[in-house]
Amino acid sequence: MSTWANLGLQDSASPLMEQLIFFHDHALLILVMITVLVGYLMIMLFFNNYVNRFLLHGQLIEMIWTILPAIILLFIAFPSLRLLYLLDEINEPSVTLKSIGHQWYWSYEYSDFNNIEFDSYMIPTNELTTDGFRLLDVDNRIVLPMNSQIRILVTAADVIHSWTIPALGVKVDGTPGRLNQTNFFINRPGLFYGQCSEICGANHSFMPIVIESVPINYFIKWISNNLNS
Ligand code: CUA
Repeated sequence: MSTWANLGLQDSASPLMEQLIFFHDHALLILVMITVLVGYLMIMLFFNNYVNRFLLHGQLIEMIWTILPAIILLFIAFPSLRLLYLLDEINEPSVTLKSIGHQWYWSYEYSDFNNIEFDSYMIPTNELTTDGFRLLDVDNRIVLPMNSQIRILVTAADVIHSWTIPALGVKVDGTPGRLNQTNFFINRPGLFYGQCSEICGANHSFMPIVIESVPINYFIKWISNNLNS
């Protein structure tokens, strides 16, 4: 979860988010190098005393400063494509979770397990306990097993919502009439917080997502408890 003064990305809790952070750092490094080089050249122009009165063309330099940036862009484009296809790959998921966006709450369905379903509402500030996080905690958490491939199917019932969890590198739009798919693998146990990321109406800010990542035997226990009730 993000806390005060955490302006960068959150620590990753899934392999895909780890790759996304690597790519971000890679792209930022190239960006800084270009900015420093261009900035240096622009500043040095102010202190230049030389004038070439016969300058009409410069075929060679134009070739260089056209092809060189194109090659630099390839160094961003290929890792970007690699990541794009990596994010899209579904690798034999062991659990499928359906999440449906509503104005303004999420509802979830575990259709692998006799269709366990529940709604997940934000806990209002006046009902919050002292260990709760304001605008971020929900009444019914999603429980998912760690160290397992998990498939998420996202849709919406009314307007466009977005199911987003930064630490897991997941951000999928829930669109009415469409079913979107994504997947992730949670590296460790813990609570992972997210929020809706499409401007979906007046209470857009108040439909958070909480995942409780637990060892698989706890997950099975949770499932069997819910099946009996
Ligand atoms: Cu749902 Cu914004």
